[in-house]
Amino acid sequence: MTDYETHRYDVIVIGAGGAGLRAAIEATSRGLSTALVCKSLFGKAHTVMAEGGVAAAMGNVYPEDNWQVHFRDTMRGGKYLNNWRMAQLHAQEAPDRVYELEAWGALFDRTPDGRITQRDFGGHRYARLAHVGDRTGLELIRTLQQKAVSMDVDVFMECKILRLLEDASGAVSGAVGYWRPTGEFVVFEAKAVVLATGSIGRSYTYTSNSWESTGDGHAMAIWAGADVIEMECVQFHPTGMVWPLSVRGLLVTEGVRGDGGALKNREGRRFMFDYIPEMFRAETAETEQEADAWYEDHANNRRTPDLLPRDEVARAINAEVKAGRGSPHGGVYLDIASRRSPEFIRRRLPSMYHQFLELAGVDITAEPMEVGPTCHYMMGGVRVHPETQAATVPGLFAAGEVAGGMHGANRLGGNSLSDLLVFGRRAGMGAADFAESRTGDIQLDAGQIDTAVADAMAPFARDDGENPYEVHQDLQRTMQSLVGIIRTGPELEEALDKLGELRERAAKISVEGGRAYNPGWNLATDLPSMLTVSTAIAQGALARKESRGAHTRDDYPNPDPELGKVNFVQRQTGERGYAAPIQIGPEPLPEMPADLHELLEEGH
Ligand code: FUM
Repeated sequence: MTDYETHRYDVIVIGAGGAGLRAAIEATSRGLSTALVCKSLFGKAHTVMAEGGVAAAMGNVYPEDNWQVHFRDTMRGGKYLNNWRMAQLHAQEAPDRVYELEAWGALFDRTPDGRITQRDFGGHRYARLAHVGDRTGLELIRTLQQKAVSMDVDVFMECKILRLLEDASGAVSGAVGYWRPTGEFVVFEAKAVVLATGSIGRSYTYTSNSWESTGDGHAMAIWAGADVIEMECVQFHPTGMVWPLSVRGLLVTEGVRGDGGALKNREGRRFMFDYIPEMFRAETAETEQEADAWYEDHANNRRTPDLLPRDEVARAINAEVKAGRGSPHGGVYLDIASRRSPEFIRRRLPSMYHQFLELAGVDITAEPMEVGPTCHYMMGGVRVHPETQAATVPGLFAAGEVAGGMHGANRLGGNSLSDLLVFGRRAGMGAADFAESRTGDIQLDAGQIDTAVADAMAPFARDDGENPYEVHQDLQRTMQSLVGIIRTGPELEEALDKLGELRERAAKISVEGGRAYNPGWNLATDLPSMLTVSTAIAQGALARKESRGAHTRDDYPNPDPELGKVNFVQRQTGERGYAAPIQIGPEPLPEMPADLHELLEEGH
């Protein structure tokens, strides 16, 4: 084996967004040596794109709120595909995680009597999102980062991890990657590995995700033989910027609608009143007058259909645009200017105000925004044990967006920040327990390391091969047009054929120049993850012959009760890697206890 720079830890956490930070804090607090490894600069993570708040049933604004209602909302939002135990733990533990964050220095906005205030968000029965203006994710990262640094967690940034490493028993025992600034390779040896790598959005053309979100953790888990579930469930946030093109997809927080913003089509109609599904009719205002009366009385916005769950709103916007009632640049209008004072807007939504003014020349205190759906969040991911976040291969744990199960077929806004706090902590605990109980020296397999390095270096040895940017753009076009918000069987078949061709092209990529900060090479090493994840998404979408949550099949427009009882589970059983096949099949959801069933019934 070539000699590589090697670091040894009890626990390594890959990804330094909220889930990774919270996991590292937990493992460190147990006295274990812990490393936090991230692809980007420390502090830069997609967590900041959960702008509007963290959902937790603290009951500060509505005393009648409690974990049971939060659990019910989450299950209903996820169209019951959620892992019930994760949804229950999440609802029960979220308030403690928010108060803990406050104790660590997070400065939440307050109620007049000094408690943490909570705002409305889609699908939540009560105003439930603790927030810091529209910069909640940023405050969460800032607070966790400060805590981690104060505990002396070792941070390795700008390090791209290529592959997980297994020992002879098949237990995950480390990872191999390279430093982006130099291109030199590095090995991490660990008794337990936590994946907290976040999202997959860069496989789509329009996304709120930044360049890091290439699904590395999802793919590495598959290549390590772990199960992934619900990969067909990709969330399109209803409101991304649509103009100018250079920033298309950038998030426009749901907090705008939570604070009173209304969606309108080009005719000025509040079209969401035309799209209220039966399931939500009982608690959604049916007319503009009814919604506005409620809004005036209660000084909040929760009964407006603008705040239906994201899958419903994204589909409605899509339908309006398709029917020719969209805005000039292919979106719809989001109007807060006519509903709230300029002072209120600037105070509650400072980032949105500056974002539109500086990027689009639009003053949102005076004019409507143009918005449309953007790929925002991955519900599917690594199948984990709900209490420990252990994956199905030993030594591997996953938390946050890379883990599946918690959100079912659609995530409610605000549940991502609470998810990563609750399950980041649990993954840190699970990994710590595993590391403590693991005995004997770790024997890394030199062959695995050499293969990963050789694969990463291969593009330098090819002349006149495929251009990584062209392969990436074709992948994004394929996913956007054939595996997007609305799907059909023939289009998914076509997507899978195209993905096969793209995998062949990816094997012929060539890059020039050196290894230090080489964006072409960096992209070439990200493409295998994107191709694996995209294939899993398309396979899952083809297999799920129904419409449920964010997964909409035009050819199967209704939910199928039988398919509501299963997860589509995917894994690589033989050959592993981006060019190898992924097996897929349905497996029953874990059975929910009767008392929780009753809770769900009460909501109807
Ligand atoms: O709209 C938002 O602020 C996003 C929040 C989330 O994804 O949870």
